[in-house]
Amino acid sequence: MLNVSIVGGSGFGGGELLRILLNHPNITIKQITSQRFNRFPVTLAHPNLRGATQLKFSSVEDLEECDILFLALPNGVSQKNIEVYKKIAPKIIDLGADFRLKDEESYTTWYGTHSAPELLSEFTYGIAELHREELRTSNYVACGGCEATCSILTLYPLVKSDIVKKDSVVIDAKIGSSAAGNKSSSASHHPIRSGCLRSYKPTMHRHTAEIEQELGTELGNVHVTATAVELVRGILVTVQVFFEEDISEVDLWKLYHSAYQEEPFIRLITDKMGNYRFPEPKLLAGTNYCDIGIEKDQRSNRAVIVGAIDNLTKGTAGQAVQAMNIMHEWDERLGLEFNGLHPV
Ligand SMILES: NC(=O)c1ccc[n+]([C@@H]2O[C@H](COP(=O)([O-])OP(=O)(O)OC[C@H]3O[C@@H](n4cnc5c(N)ncnc54)[C@H](OP(=O)(O)O)[C@@H]3O)[C@@H](O)[C@H]2O)c1
Repeated sequence: MLNVSIVGGSGFGGGELLRILLNHPNITIKQITSQRFNRFPVTLAHPNLRGATQLKFSSVEDLEECDILFLALPNGVSQKNIEVYKKIAPKIIDLGADFRLKDEESYTTWYGTHSAPELLSEFTYGIAELHREELRTSNYVACGGCEATCSILTLYPLVKSDIVKKDSVVIDAKIGSSAAGNKSSSASHHPIRSGCLRSYKPTMHRHTAEIEQELGTELGNVHVTATAVELVRGILVTVQVFFEEDISEVDLWKLYHSAYQEEPFIRLITDKMGNYRFPEPKLLAGTNYCDIGIEKDQRSNRAVIVGAIDNLTKGTAGQAVQAMNIMHEWDERLGLEFNGLHPV
């Protein structure tokens, strides 16, 4: 059994991580921090875990040594305290954005000045489908952003194909409210947020940087638009892809099958009948799956590729646990077997 602690455990990402880790056979949770709820039962922040744990929150100052430290902190906090965290655990898995980008200049462009840029190269980007071999020997992992994870997985099989018209990829992301964390703001206030269909980042979404980093130069610049929708959990990306030459839908599916046929958490949705012919985030709540569907436009060299995930699971905590499993040569699916609910 390995001892694991979570820093930033009262938030949505930390709560989802706790839910998954409590059901993991190789893990004991040692400590979980919250400044707001220090010494109170974790079920105060995560009532869904009533009966599953007697744990109480600790403060960051009381953290003891452990085997793996998960960081579920607001952007900018991990980098300031990383030297302290490194002394607490030999392995660190960060859910935040601080160590996702390899290039300091890119970080500065999208987030501002980094306080520990020398460590950017020490972290492995956490998406297993792209970095499985690297993860096996990594001590430090930076999980992908939720919107970025969904977009990267939806596009990855096209990267090596050399058929996509450069600079033409347009990602339209619809995002549920939990992606913004549990700190309330005027934008998240219920009378304002409920029922909204809000275009909040038509351009310059920060995740553009990691999508381009991970997909490389083959697709050129990608164009991301983000819309807040009436969902708590879930992301749906509708990606418009234009090709240099015509390609059949069958050949597109072949690319996706060949890239993902061995992947335990990617499901290719090929159904031709029923209500769920395309990925639907509602079906994925609490699961670690990324569902992907394709429709080729018969009138042009365009395809629409649709991807969906739960932002809190495959988009962060589930991805983190999948990475942890790989780092320890455990079955990649441990703790992540939940298949979702229907209807929900
Ligand atoms: N939400 C998502 O869907 C999602 C998806 C992908 C990635 N992420 C990333 O995951 C990270 C956490 O996101 P979240 O949604 O869980 O945020 P959140 O709900 O706002 O939670 C943040 C947590 O950090 C703690 N915290 C805040 N400032 C702190 C400080 N200075 N020192 C120690 N603890 C501090 C908060 O607890 P106290 O105030 O009680 O101490 C809280 O537990 C972020 O970096 C986010 O970008 C989130």
